[in-house]
Amino acid sequence: MSSTAIRPALPTTAPRPAAGDARANDAWWRDAVTYQVYIRSFADADGDGMGDVAGIRSRLDYLADLGIDALWINPWYPSPQADAGYDVADYRDLDPAFGTLAEAQELIDEAHALGIRVLLDIVPNHTSDEHPWFTEAVSAGPGSHQRARYLFRPGRGISGEVPPNDWKSIFGGPGWTRITEPDGTLGEWYLHLFDRKQPDLNWDNPVVRDEFEQILRFWFDRGVDGFRIDVAHGLVKDPTLPDLDNHPHRSEKDGGWDGGWDGGWDGEEASHLLDAADRSNHPHWDRPGVHEIYRAWRKVAESYHPARVFVAEAWVVSPQRLAAYLRPDELHTAFDFDFVTAPWNAPALRATAMSSLHAHDSVGAPVMWVLSNHDITRHVTRLGRPSADRARDPLHGHDTEPSDVALGRRRARAALLLELALPGGVYLYQGEELGLEEVEDLPDEVRQDPVWLRSNHTERGRDGCRVPFPWKASGPSLGFGEAAGWLPQPAGWAGPDGLSAEAQDGDPSSMLTFYRTALRLRRELVAAGTLGAGGGASLAWLDADRLGPDADQLVAFRREAGLACVLNAGSSPAHLPAELAGARVLLASGPIEPGVLPADTAVWLATD
Ligand code: GLC
Repeated sequence: MSSTAIRPALPTTAPRPAAGDARANDAWWRDAVTYQVYIRSFADADGDGMGDVAGIRSRLDYLADLGIDALWINPWYPSPQADAGYDVADYRDLDPAFGTLAEAQELIDEAHALGIRVLLDIVPNHTSDEHPWFTEAVSAGPGSHQRARYLFRPGRGISGEVPPNDWKSIFGGPGWTRITEPDGTLGEWYLHLFDRKQPDLNWDNPVVRDEFEQILRFWFDRGVDGFRIDVAHGLVKDPTLPDLDNHPHRSEKDGGWDGGWDGGWDGEEASHLLDAADRSNHPHWDRPGVHEIYRAWRKVAESYHPARVFVAEAWVVSPQRLAAYLRPDELHTAFDFDFVTAPWNAPALRATAMSSLHAHDSVGAPVMWVLSNHDITRHVTRLGRPSADRARDPLHGHDTEPSDVALGRRRARAALLLELALPGGVYLYQGEELGLEEVEDLPDEVRQDPVWLRSNHTERGRDGCRVPFPWKASGPSLGFGEAAGWLPQPAGWAGPDGLSAEAQDGDPSSMLTFYRTALRLRRELVAAGTLGAGGGASLAWLDADRLGPDADQLVAFRREAGLACVLNAGSSPAHLPAELAGARVLLASGPIEPGVLPADTAVWLATD
């Protein structure tokens, strides 16, 4: 990638709110750029191969210079790490491998001093099986109030040897595990929609509801600005726990709720974490009962000043179902995963953005645009697949179709300009600012994702997007820490021409420089009222007659205050729409010529 048209004379450091007033704006989340810190893989200060809080603190200046508004930190709680921290044993402390509560407080305060807000990750659908509640439940026996915090049931069959129903683990295998009772006999089964070390909580029990409100307060009292809610569409289950096979929700479109489950107990098939619950009245996804939980959480968040915020991880079937979580008395925001699943072609990208905006507008919520996270194949790799322009990627573990990562990087730059120009906020995943690709050739023996283990090694899982961050061009883990990281980095990330932050820093053509420039410019445009918050009404699409001869390749819109964004998602150069051909270029994702936009390139234009 060579010269990019960049508006000259931009300040080298993004303007930030002055310390002290950084948290004065209660509506900050409506147009924020939030950076996801996958703590295990961000920065390892103590040299144990695993990232930590001290590592994050040592990199706050980098994050401030990048120009982000907030951090979301993946779970840092005490955990056996059976699912990379999403198996929480204590919601009010930190795992010693990550740090201490005192260090967490330092991090929160230091981030605030830099004008950066801090969101944590709350995991309410399940705990670890090493959480005291679960160990108490096992020892207290059937019928106890301790068991009523989880979903224990007797088995079916003559001696209870058949699980209570046919639900499966998202990671593969049955969704139930049978315990040995305190008297040594085989006893009840407990539900776990994820790993067997992640028992599902019983959200019909008021004790569970009360506990999670207390946990929210525990962290809000320490100045945490909000929470990302894990599996927000889970939690509530149909109390009759009906079988899924032949259940009326069964989707005709995909041949079954999981795309082919035949009801047998082969213990290998997974229902796929990232598949939306494509049906109404599903017995464990997106049930109406979840909404009253979030109405109560909103009240907790609003009892603080400044008010705290939520972002939901909810894989639901449609933008309308997502918007239901974002009604004014519920959650503030939710990840919009529709760009993640959209093919790379102009009609699909435009239709995706329009439908998300339309649904969010109906409840007055801003869209949170997302391209990657710790569960999804990195988008450089997804967008470089030969089928990217037409097919939906299975989102992780799909390493049979090779990727042209140079093409993926070109598209990733263009995609960034698209999402940053749309109304709403954006979530970035650590390393996307370096253009990191998915590491698809990790040796099998280093894989830790329970998806790999529970699928009997048929699905590679999500480790490839979780490889430690390359800070430096050399060293045992490329500056991640003093020792090798918990996953190995590919050779291509090392060296002066590699992908490390050090190698890219100051290089005008690098992905890192492009992200810094785009974020800085967006911040200026948000401050000027040109970009950021607002809904679909703050944007006007250019229809086919205005797009001109290359309409089928272009996505183009004007923001109401003097900015236009045009993306060419086609495979050949396209003429800019005539009405924009003479507009001043603010920023382009790659080299451009007057009036012409090369393939897989986007541009921001000043239209006033
Ligand atoms: C969410 C997390 C994922 C985790 C799962 C179970 O989808 O993002 O990483 O495995 O929930 O907690």
